Amino acid sequence: MQFFKSRQAVHDFVQSHKKKDKTVGFVPTMGALHEGHIQLIKKSKLQNHITVVSIFVNPTQFNNQADYHKYPNHIKNDTEKLEQVGCDVLFHPDVEEMYPVPDHRKFDFGELEQMMEGAYRPGHFNGVAQIVSKLIEAVPAQKAYFGQKDFQQLAIVRKLVGDYNYPVEIIGCPTVRESDGLAMSSRNERLTSAQRQNAPVIYQSLLQAKKMYPEKNINEIKKYVVENINKIPEFNVEYFEIVDHYTLRPIHSPQSDKYVTACIAVYVQDVRLIDNINFF
Ligand code: PAF
Repeated sequence: MQFFKSRQAVHDFVQSHKKKDKTVGFVPTMGALHEGHIQLIKKSKLQNHITVVSIFVNPTQFNNQADYHKYPNHIKNDTEKLEQVGCDVLFHPDVEEMYPVPDHRKFDFGELEQMMEGAYRPGHFNGVAQIVSKLIEAVPAQKAYFGQKDFQQLAIVRKLVGDYNYPVEIIGCPTVRESDGLAMSSRNERLTSAQRQNAPVIYQSLLQAKKMYPEKNINEIKKYVVENINKIPEFNVEYFEIVDHYTLRPIHSPQSDKYVTACIAVYVQDVRLIDNINFF
């Protein structure tokens, strides 16, 4: 595996392979790699000649500095996992490389960023857009892979790429779950064993919500999910929304003609977990 820390060096590497008619797939990550990331890498390897993974914990997308400082860092372990899965290139820049000067750009994603993660994590998607734009400029791959667990992030990234005409195809990949249903996340490792044992309640509640839809009304479904999770000690639902899959507008009554997705964020003490489920 090739290892780059500089934007220019990884850029030159990718361009030189594209000139030789090689296709390049890109998997941006913040490290602490788990099976969810490995599936993105495997998909990229199936669809491209060369796969580049970036590991960069992006300070500008954390609205909570404690969360940024506690974000797991396992670069040695991650490098081994990347070698094992057959990743071709690791791009692992430091903060000065990505932000030699402060990034004051302000992005506008309209209503896509006004609810859920956008409302509860002010500035988060602006930070995501700052880094994703820099990363896809540094790694000019033909395809980039993102997990559907970050449902709203995926919508924002698609809009960013559309608005700025980045010549990259965004591929959304299904959420990978533990055998008990918990969505894989780098944050899961911060759960205590009791919290980890209880954490499948999140996905179980989403599955139950899906069963209730469209017969039960939206408020009843919301009440069920919030109560079912909040009754567990240390679990606190931050939001649970049922939204139009494309516009992300909350729906207030069942819509037979629309694709609908339910999204949730839960604090397990100070660990914030998100998940979602399609009702179709
Ligand atoms: O989903 C993530 O891991 C991050 O938000 C991303 C896309 C790598 C940007 O820092």
